[in-house]
Amino acid sequence: MQVHLTEEEKKNAREELFELLKIPSVSADPDYSEAVHEAAKWVANSLDKAGAEQVEIIPTAGYPIVYAEKMIDPNAPTVLVYGHYDVQPPDPTELWDNPPFEPVIQPTKIHPEGAIFARGACDDKGQMFMHIKAFEWMLRNHALHCNVKFMIEGEEEVGSDNLEDFVKNYRERLDCDVILISDTGMISNQQPSITTGLRGLSYMEVTVTGPNRDLHSGLYGGAVANPINVLAKMIAQLHDDQNRITIPGFYDKVEELSKKEREEMGKAPFDLEDYKSALDLSDVQGEEGYTTAERQSIRPTLDVNGIWGGYTGEGAKTVIASKAHAKISMRLVPHQNWEEISALFAQHFKAIAPKGVRVEVNAHHGGTPYVTPIDHTGYQAAHKAYHDTFGVEPFPQRGGGSIPIVALFEEVLNVKSVLMGFGLDSDAIHSPNEHFGLFNFYKGISTIPLFYKYYADLNRS
Ligand code: BES
Ligand code: MN
Ligand code: MN
Repeated sequence: MQVHLTEEEKKNAREELFELLKIPSVSADPDYSEAVHEAAKWVANSLDKAGAEQVEIIPTAGYPIVYAEKMIDPNAPTVLVYGHYDVQPPDPTELWDNPPFEPVIQPTKIHPEGAIFARGACDDKGQMFMHIKAFEWMLRNHALHCNVKFMIEGEEEVGSDNLEDFVKNYRERLDCDVILISDTGMISNQQPSITTGLRGLSYMEVTVTGPNRDLHSGLYGGAVANPINVLAKMIAQLHDDQNRITIPGFYDKVEELSKKEREEMGKAPFDLEDYKSALDLSDVQGEEGYTTAERQSIRPTLDVNGIWGGYTGEGAKTVIASKAHAKISMRLVPHQNWEEISALFAQHFKAIAPKGVRVEVNAHHGGTPYVTPIDHTGYQAAHKAYHDTFGVEPFPQRGGGSIPIVALFEEVLNVKSVLMGFGLDSDAIHSPNEHFGLFNFYKGISTIPLFYKYYADLNRS
């Protein structure tokens, strides 16, 4: 089977995606709530037009989940497509070359044929929409040999808080053989890869309180603990000289890969010079004893995501703030449990606080790490599909990001997920000027039908 998209089909797919990208469905900010609901309606309508049945916008305690299906044969395997229609906030908006919700096509060095610039272009509206267009293509060309269910959520970027209950309550309706997700990336447009792992996440917020009010730094400076100084020192202590995390017990359950596995992984192309120059860095930094590729996939990390307190306005103000705050997240690898890690962090962070301050630690959302075994028929079907459309074999690759719901799918539905991502690390997801290559968008639409074909071949009952 060959999937050839006509110019007309490409144009329609592009123009329809533009409509969705114009809806500012930022889940983190209540000001955009109407738009988030509008995006759900848009997705439902688009599934309906594509030929899906039982299309439903199912409310949750937060934003709704769009469900749809097409059952073709009770004996055929069932694929559940998961994606998200919500996006990250666009800020800082002044750093965008074009407004984030007014999509434009522009060429880049990596995407000479053009890329769509808009918030959500790659993460995940563009990639999610490839599945709707591929589904429509399969129906039109009588090439759909699996049952399909769609489950598209609107709270992924804020931790999918209401998805766990949904998956548990709708367990039967979501019954399937494999879950298919395009919400990750690949190595390059010349060298595809399939994400075989996602890191877990533990997200904390800390507050250090010193004096009961902001103080004149001349009158009190040097005589009382300055919460910002203290917080900075405490954060600095969370890594040692080898850039290992100092929280006692943090590494206890970390999966250590064998030398052979690490060698196998090391075969995936990675150019450190390109990596540095793309980020304007003179050098990289990370845990001693591991390569950059390993540091960002199979090793756990701890990063400050934000830090604030004191005076940050124009000019100078001599002040000792009463409070200092930070948001700190840890990426976790297989066998680490996020609730356990959150507790270890809280315990340690309080233990290293000096006298004269109070420390408060709160845990935000978390997520469990995930791995797809490469002997799974879903992985094999994806492998064959990429091989056909790219002409080279894809590499399996552990990803550094997190999609917490994937481990939950396995726990509740007992089903594995296949991560067929088509984005690139350089697509600037979550950053200003997020984009998605037209090459990648069309390649996704033409690779997905092959996944269904091979998956049906490998799972005929
Ligand atoms: N699509 C990303 C995750 C991703 C991107 C995984 C690229 C692998 C490669 C997803 O939308 C995301 O941003 N996830 C968050 C976690 C969530 C709990 C906010 C993340 O990884 O920070
Ligand atoms: Mn995403
Ligand atoms: Mn994201």
